[in-house]
Amino acid sequence: PKCDIGFIGAGVMGKNLILNLADNGYRVAAFDLDHHKLEQLLQQDQQERGEQPPRIMACNSYTELLSFLSPPHLIILSVPAGKAVDDVCYKLIDAGIGADDIIVDTGNSLWTDTVAREKAFESKFIFFSTAVSGGEVGARFGPSLMPSGDPYAWTRIKPIWQAIAAKVDAKTGEPIERFEPGNPVKEGEPCAVYIGPSGSGHYVKMVHNGIEYADMQLICEAYQVMRDILHMPAAEIAAVFKQWNDGPLHSYLIEISAEVLATKDSETGLPLVDVIMDRAAQKGTGLWTAVSSLQLGSPAPTIAEAVYARAISALKSERVKAATVLAGPAENVISAAEKQDIIQSLHDALYCAKICVYAQGFNLMKTAAVEYGWKLCFAEIAKIWRAGCIIRAVFLQSISQAYQRDDELENLLLDPFFAKQISKYQQNWRKAVANATLAGIPVAALSSALSYYDSYRTAVLPANLLQGQRDFFGAHTFERTDKAKGRQYHVEWNQTNRPMVKIK
Ligand code: 6PG
Repeated sequence: PKCDIGFIGAGVMGKNLILNLADNGYRVAAFDLDHHKLEQLLQQDQQERGEQPPRIMACNSYTELLSFLSPPHLIILSVPAGKAVDDVCYKLIDAGIGADDIIVDTGNSLWTDTVAREKAFESKFIFFSTAVSGGEVGARFGPSLMPSGDPYAWTRIKPIWQAIAAKVDAKTGEPIERFEPGNPVKEGEPCAVYIGPSGSGHYVKMVHNGIEYADMQLICEAYQVMRDILHMPAAEIAAVFKQWNDGPLHSYLIEISAEVLATKDSETGLPLVDVIMDRAAQKGTGLWTAVSSLQLGSPAPTIAEAVYARAISALKSERVKAATVLAGPAENVISAAEKQDIIQSLHDALYCAKICVYAQGFNLMKTAAVEYGWKLCFAEIAKIWRAGCIIRAVFLQSISQAYQRDDELENLLLDPFFAKQISKYQQNWRKAVANATLAGIPVAALSSALSYYDSYRTAVLPANLLQGQRDFFGAHTFERTDKAKGRQYHVEWNQTNRPMVKIK
C-alpha cells in the first residue's frame, strides 16, 4: 500500500514526529541512514500498539522511500541543521523527485539558509520549512509548529500540521495535554499557523529560542540567589518554584525547574543539581537571535546576556581559580523575615524581567518583519506559543490579547495591561537586583531587563554626551534638540571659541 508522507531522519525528534503522524492516521514511509534507528522506531510502535498491522514503512533507500509515495510527493526532513539538509535534498533529486514535490525541513535551521535553499532548489522541487518546538514530548504528542514558505505547499501541509500540533483550550488559553500513544488530542486550537514567506518561520523560531535562553537564565538567577544568599537546599527551592507555578509565572520552564531541583541523584542520593556541572552548552539559536538583534539595531540585551551567561559558565576552570583570588563583599546574615521578603522580590523580579524579554523578542520580530518585508501576526504567534513549545506559559494568552487590542503596538511594555503589571511589581524587581548586587551574586539577565525597562522609559538618555564625544574625536556630527530633525552640526573643537558649523 502507498503511504501519505515520506519522512527522513528517525532521530529523537524525527521518530516522535513519525509516531505522532501515525497516531493521526497518516501512513509514513521512513528512511534513516542509520537503519538501527528505524528498527527502534518500529519496535516502539509495536510496543505501544500491541499486535496490530504495521503503519510505518521502514525503507532501505531514498528510491525505495519514493516508491511508497504517490506524486506529488510530500517528504518531511528531521535531520541536523546545516549541511545534512542540503545533502538529503540532493539525494532526493538523484532519486527522482520533481518540480511539484514538496520537501519540508523541520530542523533548527538558520533562517537565511532556508531562504537560500528555497531559491537554490526552485526549479527542482518546492522547499518548504517548518520550525518545530517542544522537544521530544512535544514532537510525540503535540509540538508548536512555525511553517513558512510557498503558500501552495502550505495548503497541502496545513491539515497534517494542524492534526499533529499541540492544542489549546480557546477560552482559557491553557494547553490541552494528553500524553497517550494512539489517542491524540483532536479538540482545541492547533498551535500551527502559517507565519509568512520563506525563512520567516525559522526566524520566529529563532526568536522563540532567544526568549527560551533568557527565560531559562532568569530562572537560574533566581535559583542562585536562593542558593547562595539564602542558603536554601535544592528541595526547598524546588518547593518555591512549584508554588510560583500556580501564579502568573505558570509555565513549562518553571515547572521543569522545580522538577529538576526536586530530583535526587540515583548514584549518590544528593540533589541532582548539586552534581550537575555548572557549564552550559549551546547549539547556536540564542546566539543567532542576539546577533540578529545587534545587526538590526533592535535591542534584545537580556537575550544577549543569557548567551553571555552560558559563555562565562563555560570558563569553569578560570572561574574556579578566580574564586580564590578575587574578593567579593562580606556576607550579611539574613533574618527569617528578610528571607521571605527576598523570595517575594525574586518572584516579582522574574515576572517583570520576563515581560521585558518578551518585549525584546516581539520587537525584534517586528523590526525583522519591516526589514525583510514579512507581515507577521504577533497575536497569532503568541497563540501558537501557548502550548507545545518550550516557552509555553499562561502569560502568552495576555501577550496575544495585547496584540489583538493593537497589532501595531510599538512595544509590549506600552500595552496597558503590561505597563500596569510592571508598575505594580517594579519596586520588588529593583530590590531583588539591588540585594543580589550588594551580595555579589551575578544577576546579569534580571538587571539587564531592568536597564532595558529604565532606558526605554527615559525621555533623555546620556547619548547627547556620547554624540559630543564622537564629534570631538571624529567629527561625526550631531543633531540639535532645538533644530529640525536630520540637520547635522559639528563643533570645531580645536578652535578656542569652539564655533558651531552646520554640515547639512
Ligand atoms: C525547542 C527547543 C529546541 C532545543 C534547542 C536548545 O523549542 O524545542 O528550543 O529547539 O532544545 O536546540 O538549544 P540549546 O542546545 O542551544 O540550548
